[in-house]
Amino acid sequence: MNLQNDLLLRAARGERVERTPVWTMRQAGRILAEYRAVREQAGSFIKLATTPELAAEVTIQPVDILGVDAAIIFSDILVIPEGMGLPYKMVEQRGPVFPRTVRTAADLESLRIADPEADLGYVLDALKIVKKELNGRVPLIGFAGAPFTIFCYMTEGKGSKTFSVAKKLLYTDPEFSHSLLQKITDSTIAYLKAQAVAGADLLQVFDSWAGILSPEQYREFSLPYIKQICDAIHEVPVTVFAKGAFFARKEIGELSCSVVGLDWNMDIQESRELIPNKTLQGNLDPCALYGNFEQIRAEVKKMVGAFGTQRYIANLGHGVYPDTPPDNVRCFIDAVKEYSQV
Ligand code: CP3
Repeated sequence: MNLQNDLLLRAARGERVERTPVWTMRQAGRILAEYRAVREQAGSFIKLATTPELAAEVTIQPVDILGVDAAIIFSDILVIPEGMGLPYKMVEQRGPVFPRTVRTAADLESLRIADPEADLGYVLDALKIVKKELNGRVPLIGFAGAPFTIFCYMTEGKGSKTFSVAKKLLYTDPEFSHSLLQKITDSTIAYLKAQAVAGADLLQVFDSWAGILSPEQYREFSLPYIKQICDAIHEVPVTVFAKGAFFARKEIGELSCSVVGLDWNMDIQESRELIPNKTLQGNLDPCALYGNFEQIRAEVKKMVGAFGTQRYIANLGHGVYPDTPPDNVRCFIDAVKEYSQV
């Protein structure tokens, strides 16, 4: 199907655009009253994420309400552990919790490589519904967590500031760590390929915990697995977003991905020099959206000025925070559209 608005895909491929495309990570979610209403109806986050019709509905909401240039499928990176046989719970006000964790060879042995159709069919069904209902209005983004970030949750069992249980395993049992990372990678490649077949026009890999590793550990435990993913996906463009991995920008820029995501700690000019041949995405501090409209517009103007309008996808440097007023998100999006006209 032909897309009416393919700015995101043209920017990802490095083609000329008449203005910069814009979307925000976590655009579907608690910032929107319309999302909270559907979540209420579903009863729980997991019920919402596993009911394709409802997941599709909240995926499309920000396209209608915020005017973003892409939809991102409503799901979570933790569906991969679930699909491998390690279920999670979403605890209100606390975040994800895994009743069982993976710490021994026997734990690892009990996991399977996820079969996208059998284990994650609900996400593929949601993608198909969204694709149909979007009817070519904007591209649809699929996603998965990077293997190292998924490893963090599967071993630690919950969110953490330090992920010291996960990092302990890297030091004390690198062989186990690599085996688990490989099993996650195999599951993730199959899952991302299935998302492309189901209708995803671009795939983003979230390495949300990249920043807790040393450069040397990042090179050993994260980058090689992201590389396997990039090398395996030929169907659609891939974005790699490694939060906090300012030290690995050059190496990430050498992967066979189309787009590199930046967080707000990464200097824009320096990033362009380190990653000269790829489209960049990002990177406004989500806290900038707590300012008034005038302040938000000034920040956007600076950001677009620094990135330039080409080979650029405007976004925040991480997901939008849940207490951000939707009007401020809309102000951010409108300001990008205004300041990036060529
Ligand atoms: O709009 C979108 O971006 C699509 C939806 C999306 C969700 N999670 C929905 C969600 C995406 C892309 C994710 C990715 C995700 N999930 C990441 C990577 C991106 C990042 O933020 O670094 C991570 C680390 C997770 C794991 C996760 N899921 C945590 C730590 C939490 C709890 C804290 C939080 O940020 O909300 C979740 C829950 C979650 N995932 C919610 C949503 C809308 C909130 C649940 C609710 O509505 O009650």
